[in-house]
Amino acid sequence: MASQHPDIEKVLFTQEDIDGIVSRLGEEITRDYAGKDLVLIAVLRGAVVFMGDLMRKIELPTNIDFMAVSSYGDGVKSSGIVRIIKDLDIDIRGRDVLIVEDILDSGLTLKYLMKNLESRKPASLEVAAFLWKDVEDRTSAITPKYVGTHCPDAFVVGYGLDYAERYRNLPYLGILKPEVYS
Ligand code: PRP
Ligand code: MN
Ligand code: MG
Repeated sequence: MASQHPDIEKVLFTQEDIDGIVSRLGEEITRDYAGKDLVLIAVLRGAVVFMGDLMRKIELPTNIDFMAVSSYGDGVKSSGIVRIIKDLDIDIRGRDVLIVEDILDSGLTLKYLMKNLESRKPASLEVAAFLWKDVEDRTSAITPKYVGTHCPDAFVVGYGLDYAERYRNLPYLGILKPEVYS
């Protein structure tokens, strides 16, 4: 097992936990999308690790593409403004699109993406989120079709998630020590 980074207060999900969670999601998606024209769209940059794992657990012909949006910048709070930094390369009209996201926090990023992608007329549009953060004050009512697991309302990093672009490469998911960002 990877040794724990000194900036991590607590490991919430180990590599082994994550593998189990992603395997289950892959099985569900494989079952639900049989015979469909599945396109996975990962949201850069946080979702890259989850995407890499999830796509290998889906036993179906699958296309992938990426969009880059950012709302957090280097802060710990969403700016409230979602910007497209990189758009899709492929046309999703008439296809079965599954947005792959690392975390649903305020919901702002996914709310914006759902609206944006819906306007391109896919046959279907759903969300697979690795984490759904339990927050009281959620600004949007997005309910992902596939949820890996819930996580507490703390600043979590690793498994693709960053603080100021750091910690994305930690193979586990953990709570960042508050003194690192305060
Ligand atoms: C993070 C995370 C999600 C989003 C979730 O992305 O990866 O995409 O915030 O937060 P929300 O539900 O409050 O919108 P970020 O904007 O930090 O960009 P990144 O993926 O490049 O880290
Ligand atoms: Mn992100
Ligand atoms: Mg980020």
